[in-house]
Amino acid sequence: MKILVTGGAGYIGSHVVKALGEKGYDILVVDNLVKGHREAVLFGELKVADVGDKDAMLEVLDYFKPDAVMHFAAFIEVVESVKNPSKYYENNTVKTLALLEAMIEKGIDKFIFSSTAAVYGNPNRVPIPETESVKPINPYGQSKACVEKILADYSRAYGLSFVSLRYFNAAGADPKGRIGESHNPETHLIPLVLKTAKGERESIKVFGTDYPTPDGTCIRDYIHVDDLAEAHVLALNYLLDGGESDVFNCGYGHGYSVKEVIDTAKKVTGVDFTVEESDRRPGDPAILVADSSKLKTKLGWKPSFDDLEYIVRTAWNWELNRRF
Ligand SMILES: NC(=O)c1ccc[n+]([C@@H]2O[C@H](COP(=O)([O-])OP(=O)(O)OC[C@H]3O[C@@H](n4cnc5c(N)ncnc54)[C@H](O)[C@@H]3O)[C@@H](O)[C@H]2O)c1
Repeated sequence: MKILVTGGAGYIGSHVVKALGEKGYDILVVDNLVKGHREAVLFGELKVADVGDKDAMLEVLDYFKPDAVMHFAAFIEVVESVKNPSKYYENNTVKTLALLEAMIEKGIDKFIFSSTAAVYGNPNRVPIPETESVKPINPYGQSKACVEKILADYSRAYGLSFVSLRYFNAAGADPKGRIGESHNPETHLIPLVLKTAKGERESIKVFGTDYPTPDGTCIRDYIHVDDLAEAHVLALNYLLDGGESDVFNCGYGHGYSVKEVIDTAKKVTGVDFTVEESDRRPGDPAILVADSSKLKTKLGWKPSFDDLEYIVRTAWNWELNRRF
């Protein structure tokens, strides 16, 4: 089976490429390397191109003739998306359309999309089921919600089959330390905490200690990136077996507070780094936890790394030995 992976030189895409490569799939990665790293692509071929370049995508599809496309390529910074929404709608929504047009023209009809818990905004129910209303509160979430709407329409009109995976907080790294999280700028809690332990940052800031949670700090559902990668392999096989278009949450169904993450990082690293308490940030919901029962029952997903200490340990190993 041949799989085209856009954004496969990025954090999550590269772990999915690893999972696919280890299972013997034939892979072509398309990435413009604006955020990704050539060295992160452990399997398959890398074509440096922009997914918004429809002619380039038509050429790639003609050359590789994939059975399915997995689409990770996007910008991911919520705060930046508020300041510069155009950049997000352009890269995440408009460019996805160009890719979809090219796929339809070439008769490629299986698509796996990287969506996000940010499509739920401030949810009414926690753990959040997929039936919760889609009401993003920032342009990043909206840029992804728009694609989900487009996918639903395209699937009805053009026979495209898609799975949209709504990730909660991807975290951790390859246990062998070959690849890991390397965003610039880094905005995610675990790598920021570990950079503080490493001495690259003076302190870690905790935004808000008066949330209605047991220790007053925000709770998030951290999913190890290799478990997330496995969900993609299952979604791919589901589509290849003729499964209908659908949407799935990806998370463990329980979360950890910012303080718990920090305590775990102190334990794993053995470093008592400085923690600064500061005010809440606007737009941070107190608790974001997935109801992932649909992923388990319908796709047979069985997480293997639901353990914060393991997540932090693999991320720390990466942080100490990173190649990019
Ligand atoms: N990291 C998370 O916790 C998280 C959570 C929810 C959803 N997601 C989604 O998962 C996907 C991957 O996230 P990530 O953390 O791996 O990000 P990342 O920045 O590490 O990877 C994205 C990759 O896409 C590439 N890219 C971006 N725009 C492109 C374009 N127009 N053409 C070609 N390549 C392009 C970048 O160079 C990069 O290699 C994104 O779609 C993101 O929205 C991530």
